[in-house]
Amino acid sequence: MSRSHRITILAGDGIGPEVMAESVRILEAVEAKFGFTVARSEHLVGGAAIDATGHPLPPETVAASEAADAILFGSVGGPKWETLPPDIQPERGALLPLRKHFGLFANLRPGVCLPALTHASPVKQELIADGFDVLCVRELTGGVYFGTPKGREERNGEPVAFDTMVYMKSEIQRIARVAFTAAMGRKKQLLSVDKANVLASSVLWRETVVEISKEFPEVELSHMYVDNAAMQLIKRPGSFDVLVTENLFGDILSDEMAMISGSLGMLPSASLGKQREDGLYFGLYEPSGGSAPDIAGQGIANPIAQILSLAMLLRFSLGEVEAADAIEAAVAKTIADGFRTGDIATSQPGETKVGTSGMGDAILA
Ligand code: NAI
Ligand code: MG
Repeated sequence: MSRSHRITILAGDGIGPEVMAESVRILEAVEAKFGFTVARSEHLVGGAAIDATGHPLPPETVAASEAADAILFGSVGGPKWETLPPDIQPERGALLPLRKHFGLFANLRPGVCLPALTHASPVKQELIADGFDVLCVRELTGGVYFGTPKGREERNGEPVAFDTMVYMKSEIQRIARVAFTAAMGRKKQLLSVDKANVLASSVLWRETVVEISKEFPEVELSHMYVDNAAMQLIKRPGSFDVLVTENLFGDILSDEMAMISGSLGMLPSASLGKQREDGLYFGLYEPSGGSAPDIAGQGIANPIAQILSLAMLLRFSLGEVEAADAIEAAVAKTIADGFRTGDIATSQPGETKVGTSGMGDAILA
């Protein structure tokens, strides 16, 4: 009997539906090749959902996702909906509530620059001559973004505003386990990034990560302060492998890593919930970039970020590791063979310029 899985597809707005179509073709190919089936149901989200129902996250979309193993998400938003009240805007009203509803506390953002694309990176060529390949594991539902008290008031006739960085030990334990597990599947090195010389929450962070490291004796754990990590990423990007950090630090460092990688159109992401008994996670998988309204509808968007998001979904939510490996290898080969969408084209010899579906064709081949 073949393995069967179920996902929801929320393509969203802008380039979302265009790059999603290519991902679905890739999914069909790996189903056939590796002998499993993925039941797919497509639902409205973001601006498209606002236009049809008045709300960016219809209850029917949430219900369908609850019944699934994972969500493959495109992107939401665009100029058409920017003037709506914040709560019903595509990102604020759909993506954030989805993360919250499903308890997606672990954000995995790979920063990868394939060897053939290193000239697209702003860092010195010799520093990433062998490519750049770092996985940032960012805590997504705690820390200063959510901590209380948070607010603004008058003190001694002056406005004062405050946020609180709060971490419960259990929140650190669960993100640390995700990071160690990810490190086990790579070079078995984990860098924990904190500010333990200044912040109480970071002292607890470091203590807890050290405790969890005992469950993963094969992984070599090291620590770095966040300000130093920001420097070292630029100075010796090739020396990083997996890093784990709290919400705000991860927000900043993962954007720095995306920049080192060169193109947003290449970078996937995963937001994971609690690990299940079988070792898999419910997750939402989406490109690191947005809906790219400037190029939507032209068939020129790079579908690779979406396709690699599918690979992460297969790996972390469905356990179809061979299929995930095959997709990642096919993408690497396609780039090595010179196929380029506009965002990664440089008019070097040996490049073949393709559109969205042409890139999909090359990866399928
Ligand atoms: P963006 O990521 O959509 O675009 C930034 C630049 O990168 C643009 O020049 C775009 O053409 C390019 N780009 C992004 N993905 C690409 C791809 N796959 N291939 C080729 N080029 C690509 O960010 P921006 O312009 O700040 O936001 C546009 C809209 O997307 C806004 O409405 C924003 O709210 C929304 N957004 C949605 C996100 C989500 O759904 N998770 C995340 C970020 C932004
Ligand atoms: Mg950010």
